[in-house]
Amino acid sequence: MSDKHHDNKPEELLPGDFIPEQQLLEHEYDGIQEADNPLPKWWVQLFLICIVFAVVYTPLVHVFNLLPKDYLANDIAQAAMVAEQREAELVASGFYDKDPVAAGKKYFGTFCVSCHGTYGEGGIGPNLTDNFWIHGPEEINITTTIMNGVAAKGMPTWGPILGERKIKMLAAYVMTLWATPPPVAGKKAEGEAYDMAVIRAPKVEAVADSTATAASKKM
Ligand code: HEC
Repeated sequence: MSDKHHDNKPEELLPGDFIPEQQLLEHEYDGIQEADNPLPKWWVQLFLICIVFAVVYTPLVHVFNLLPKDYLANDIAQAAMVAEQREAELVASGFYDKDPVAAGKKYFGTFCVSCHGTYGEGGIGPNLTDNFWIHGPEEINITTTIMNGVAAKGMPTWGPILGERKIKMLAAYVMTLWATPPPVAGKKAEGEAYDMAVIRAPKVEAVADSTATAASKKM
């Protein structure tokens, strides 16, 4: 070990070092003796700092309320305010809509009614409210049809004109049309028939169904 323990300074002792006789306490039980090792300096200093901190901190915070106690609540309130402001900005910019279906309806009124009718009942373009679809009834089919169009049949290519965001909102709106039959006679069926009640069933139920099937498979 180190040479230092020759000067017998107690704080220089390292674990496993020989403990000189005079540092053993008087008592002894079954041959077991207790060494009187002092605590390391750094430990004692830390302990004293803790005491000083407690004496200063406790009255300041808990008696005189001098430090802000509800800084977390303030932070949350401020973050909520910033988020609200940002959302208002986005809504005002027209880039973001709180209600995608309502926004889709708005865009449908501007860009689509001329061919698909006010209620989606069809005209130049096919009826979007019935069970029949030329290009498929799923969200991905509808989005793709709007995006790419069907140039040969007169459905414009909306992708470069409207962009993905608006097209997604349009698709969200088109998907609600099946459940809201038009108050006017729709265009005759075109394309293939689909079981729309199943296809338009809320996704939550679909998840519940799949867990139910998974559970029944286990049994
Ligand atoms: C200039 C007329 C025209 C406009 C405007 C138009 N469409 Fe079409 N749309 C059509 C035609 C025609 C078809 C049928 C294409 C075919 O037969 O393959 C069609 C097909 C569709 C289909 C597929 C229907 C199916 O049965 O698979 C969807 C969905 C659709 N349009 C949505 C829209 C949306 C949303 C808009 C507005 C952004 C829009 N269309 C604007 C003419 C138009």
